Amino acid sequence: MKKILITGGAGFIGSCVVRRFVNNYPDYLIVNLDSLTYAGNLQNLIDIEDFPNYRFEKADIRNKEEINRIFDKYDITDVVHLAAESHVDRSITNPLDFVLTNVIGTVTLLEAAKTKWKENYGEHLFYHVSTDEVYGALGSEGLFTEETRYDPHSPYSASKAASDHFVRAYHDTYGIKAVVSNCSNNYGPYHFPEKLIPLMINNIINHKPLPVYGDGNYTRDWLYVKDHAVAIDLVFHEGKSGDTYNIGGFNEWKNIDLVLLLCKQMDEKLGREPGTSNKLITYVKDRPGHDRRYAIDASKINRELGWKPSVTFEQGLSETIDWFLANEKWLNDVTSGNYATYYDKQYANI
Ligand code: NAD
Ligand code: DAU
Repeated sequence: MKKILITGGAGFIGSCVVRRFVNNYPDYLIVNLDSLTYAGNLQNLIDIEDFPNYRFEKADIRNKEEINRIFDKYDITDVVHLAAESHVDRSITNPLDFVLTNVIGTVTLLEAAKTKWKENYGEHLFYHVSTDEVYGALGSEGLFTEETRYDPHSPYSASKAASDHFVRAYHDTYGIKAVVSNCSNNYGPYHFPEKLIPLMINNIINHKPLPVYGDGNYTRDWLYVKDHAVAIDLVFHEGKSGDTYNIGGFNEWKNIDLVLLLCKQMDEKLGREPGTSNKLITYVKDRPGHDRRYAIDASKINRELGWKPSVTFEQGLSETIDWFLANEKWLNDVTSGNYATYYDKQYANI
């Protein structure tokens, strides 16, 4: 029986992955390990928290003793590692947190796996969920492939690049089965409203300014989070150890065009006059070291594992806006910090 440790399962993508694995694999035990930083929220998993194949452990991936305890307690067979500091702007103001969690935390998990699985590395998998930002920035042409040279620019992407290299080093040096996937920008339900799309949705709802960095012509490739979770499921089950898989939406948008699309859809859904939200757009000081363009070539995962995105951007964005409008309490709790008390209520006595 697989007993899978999913780290960062209370975050945006992690909760989507945990939900998918808990629902689709009743014969697996899914252990969600999360330290519940500002970005971790157990309200994201209310629908599955009582499932018999689900457990939650509040722990920090930097804490060697805790990680070893959890490996032993559940006899962990595989790891899907998503826990990280994930916001580029925060990495610019506080890089050390990113090194500690993303690099030291990842190596701490790898060390536990190396020790606990030493009898038979061939039977266990360490899967690192990473980002396309490790590849740096593209000009107006071209796509990131699995062969693109690493060239990270922000403290966030440098820390993720380092952690990718450590995962590969443990594969090459100790023979631990490992895969890495590098994905483009996700969006969807439960997205923390510091990131572009949920921040704009929240600000439009509340008639607040929409801060567009620099000239707004920075380009990102957007993927619906549920499609990322499907890809992670496939890579986990069918990916080749030692390999890398790029995951992306084939869906490039300049930030300003995306914000204009959001304004249009939101005005329609909120019954506001067309053009109302456009007036909130405010150009602000640029992010230092801002990467101009990201775009993923996801043909390898399509060719080898048969994956491709299932929803168009218009569908995914519309569903996302509907989710935020229907989940005002979640948004209010997150923006006010109230969700911290949810953990205390649910798990304090365990
Ligand atoms: P998130 O910030 O929403 O969630 C991160 C989770 O990790 C939170 O629940 C947080 O509490 C937990 N965490 C942070 N530090 C921890 C620590 N020291 N110990 C234990 N738990 C800790 O992030 P996300 O957007 O869901 O991203 C998840 C992963 O996917 C990250 O590794 C990120 O680099 C990667 N990724 C994200 C995107 C994206 O667009 N969001 C795209 C590609 C890859
Ligand atoms: O590419 C994958 C990465 O995507 C992930 O690895 C990161 O964890 C995730 O946060 C995301 O990084 P970005 O920096 O691309 O995402 P963010 O939502 O912060 O910004 C998207 C673009 O929008 C970027 O060009 C900066 C711009 N932006 C962002 C914010 C928050 C603005 O113009 N205004 C804003 O207020």
